[in-house]
Amino acid sequence: MDLKQKVLSFLESNKGNPVSGGKLAAQLNVTRSAVWKAVKSLQEDGYSISAGTNRGYCLSENTDILSAESIMPYIKSKDSFDIQVLKTIDSTNSFAKKLAQEGARQGTVVISEEQTAGRGRMGRSFYSPANTGIYMSIILRPQLSIEHSLRITTNTAVAVSRAIEKITYLETKIKWVNDIFANGKKLCGILSEASIDFESGGLEYAIVGIGINVSTLQSSFPAQLQETATSIFPNISLRPVRSELIAEILNNIDDMCDNILATEFLDEYRKRSFLLGKDIIVINGETEQNAKAIDIDDEARLVVILEDGETKALNTGEVSVREKYNLPGV
Ligand code: BTN
Repeated sequence: MDLKQKVLSFLESNKGNPVSGGKLAAQLNVTRSAVWKAVKSLQEDGYSISAGTNRGYCLSENTDILSAESIMPYIKSKDSFDIQVLKTIDSTNSFAKKLAQEGARQGTVVISEEQTAGRGRMGRSFYSPANTGIYMSIILRPQLSIEHSLRITTNTAVAVSRAIEKITYLETKIKWVNDIFANGKKLCGILSEASIDFESGGLEYAIVGIGINVSTLQSSFPAQLQETATSIFPNISLRPVRSELIAEILNNIDDMCDNILATEFLDEYRKRSFLLGKDIIVINGETEQNAKAIDIDDEARLVVILEDGETKALNTGEVSVREKYNLPGV
């Protein structure tokens, strides 16, 4: 960590409260003027830091710039994660995949303020405008067989849904298999990608990609997303939450990694389900069938009753579903 990062780390940990320049210099074992230079450089990067002769340095509470230093104060188990934050990237999942192939450890996290080619499931793109969302990919190396790998996605959905509710009080629902909804619209998508170790039949690594619309104004979504997408704060942003929210998600994922197959997560997934009990349309390529969603089984498949009375467990790779009476497909 260079001096600038160390100063930022102090300021972020004391956000909204003044930190004495003298104390900072003594703690970091540098001169006051070196601290001042670091502060000036942070101000040039866009940080709002007030400096008063007797009051010290104070990072504004309204600061919403993502950095490892802004997230770390909220992380419970600091050793679990290596976090890097980028200004822009094509896709954090693609970048994380490269790092995983080079041997990056479990808990490596890539976050970007913007994605120029954010990816969703089934070859779709994920709208990722600058500074208003969370675009994050986490490298996991779980001891898990391929048939259980879907649990990574479902557990992550629970981790995200819980975190959003805890930090923002917004009630969310999970739409099988990987979307988080609020007020009937999608505000988060999850894209899990994995590399398989053919010798062991298990996963070599998994990349869990999470995209959350945080403060994207409803009016600024592209026309084709207006009806289907929303954000946590679609009208006005009350306070910056991204760093805290990212940390809470990572804390939840850390807990989940200790016991990926615990039934607790799948039970909560069912409780938070957006589709259970609803009439839905099952889409398989060009074919669409009416059905009712009745359960999520222990393999995280969506169990439906088709119009002809047949009960079927749907695998996520094969089909997508949408609510019958409400939404165009998302
Ligand atoms: C979906 O809606 O189908 C999944 C969207 C996943 C988007 C996230 S944003 C961070 C990560 N990087 C990507 O390119 N995609 C995921």
